[in-house]
Amino acid sequence: MCGIVGYVGTKPAAPILVDGLARLEYRGYDSAGIAIVGSSEIKVHKDAGRVRELEASLPKRFGGKIGIGHTRWATHGGPTKDNAHPHASEDETIAVVHNGIIDNAAFLRASLEEAGVKLRSETDTEVLAHLICQAEGDTLEAKVLQALTRIDGTYGIAVIDLAHPDRIVVARNGSPIILGIGDGEMHIASDASALVRYTRQVVHLDDGELATVRADGYRTFTSDSRATTKSAETVEWSDEDYQRGEHEHFMVKEIHEQPESVQRVLRGRLDERFHTVHLGGLNMDAREAREIRRVKILGCGSAYYAGQLGAQFIEEVARIPADAEPASEFRYRNPVVERDTLYVAVSQSGETLDTLVAVQELKRKGGRVIGLVNAVGSSIAREVDGGVYLHAGPEVSVASTKALTNMAVAFAMLGIHLGRIRDVSPADGRRLIEGLKKLPAQIEAIVAQETELAEIAGRLSKAESLFFVGRTRGYPVAREGAQKLKEISYRHAEAYQTSELKHGPLALISPEVPTVAIVPDDELLDRNIGALHEIAARSGPLYVVTHPGVEVPDGAAAVITVPKNEPELDPILLTIPLQLLAYHASVALGHDVDKPRNLAKSVTVE
Ligand code: F6R
Repeated sequence: MCGIVGYVGTKPAAPILVDGLARLEYRGYDSAGIAIVGSSEIKVHKDAGRVRELEASLPKRFGGKIGIGHTRWATHGGPTKDNAHPHASEDETIAVVHNGIIDNAAFLRASLEEAGVKLRSETDTEVLAHLICQAEGDTLEAKVLQALTRIDGTYGIAVIDLAHPDRIVVARNGSPIILGIGDGEMHIASDASALVRYTRQVVHLDDGELATVRADGYRTFTSDSRATTKSAETVEWSDEDYQRGEHEHFMVKEIHEQPESVQRVLRGRLDERFHTVHLGGLNMDAREAREIRRVKILGCGSAYYAGQLGAQFIEEVARIPADAEPASEFRYRNPVVERDTLYVAVSQSGETLDTLVAVQELKRKGGRVIGLVNAVGSSIAREVDGGVYLHAGPEVSVASTKALTNMAVAFAMLGIHLGRIRDVSPADGRRLIEGLKKLPAQIEAIVAQETELAEIAGRLSKAESLFFVGRTRGYPVAREGAQKLKEISYRHAEAYQTSELKHGPLALISPEVPTVAIVPDDELLDRNIGALHEIAARSGPLYVVTHPGVEVPDGAAAVITVPKNEPELDPILLTIPLQLLAYHASVALGHDVDKPRNLAKSVTVE
């Protein structure tokens, strides 16, 4: 959600900044801009629209070797040219890009206006440019520090100053800032995707930390000007991993990568001798793990649905009561924090603010929190007491696919790990480990059905409104399927427990309202088939996602089968065709699959 870039070095900054913004565009794409320190002025070029439009309209003479850039997902003020970042001070000597929310912006705007400052935008960020400009101090660092004392809220900022044309000052409080160490040059970005083309050596700033970044290096310090020591880390992924390659969209590329990404999350963790799973990063010994009386999973959106899959698995296999709750709700309801509950934060980006704040609140109250996180070194990963990295690789498409699958697999591993030090027998451990090992090939077999799924999606996309139904293990699958369709096809899709249909929603079933039904071949098969007959009897078109050999009512609009695994692991496979249905429905409707309207990857605001 909003992306920041910066460059200081010996090369022309503008093309590097624009390239970085294009790579960060998935974080926000309603406006973009760059600012460069010129010889006698700070030059700003910004507009509403996409980065490629910004690039096309870039003035010919836009030289300078230091600059900052921003791609925006509007929070305060609509997506207009004036509201686009960078924001400059009145005398245009200071320019700022910002990711986050300034809570006291209204108050600060009013006091600036009272002092005669003419604000040009409706954003919270603009106040920062004026505050820095007005601040006292000989150095840009001193001015930024002073301005920040007046700010309440979250920020990742990068600031340039005509009076100090050799540096960018950055600060972090709640929104990520990464420094990339180049050869005689330095880069700045909100995440590594914008940097890996230039360098894989990075430094993550901590909350409350600032840095002065110059071509020859960087210096980090705290808000009370104490120097901090950082060590550089190497980014696991190369530039190629962030490219779309031969695929038309990132989403379909990421769907196809799943056999490999599932291999990665399993690699080195399965113990076939003792029929268990080793999760070294949990930082929890067997005695501590045996003391857990409850598992509470927190995440948002698709990560929350993955959490529901995880809770189901953990309760069923490890026999520990488990549930999932949206972190966005949990953080606001002053929950009771129990010492013998294991809290699990799940997040692809590791930057989702609601999840991060839930973790911080839990830690404040003494809760034990582990993370299931994809982005290495991200805020949530650094905040938790231990965890499991998902190793899904960079996920660029706003709609999550491979990260969600790896979350579900990681939860299964956690469930087996907890179960095998409690009641789960070696035979069951072996059965589940064998099941996990089969997943990559089985996912490959599902993805190979893409042509058929595209045809089905074309038909499905014509409906204005749909139901997705499933029960127990299948219900989170239905929720995730509905979510995926909604966010990229803009069709209304409602997920329901199959068992609850007859208590109300059955009234909506008609030839115009198709139902996508998740029907695993498990102990509830007869009941699920019964519900399908009820839908068919009301002329509701049925799209059934099931296992081979299951007999569905005559006249179903489509029957999609996935390979059978162990019942507890089947939900992982049942979600895969739903990803392809959503993808191809969006393509059929001509939408921008990777950048759906109103959404952004990594929601770092409330
Ligand atoms: C849906 C989607 C979102 C994210 C949610 C949490 O496809 O991508 O619902 O799952 O915003 O994001 P992370 O996992 O980064 O915390």
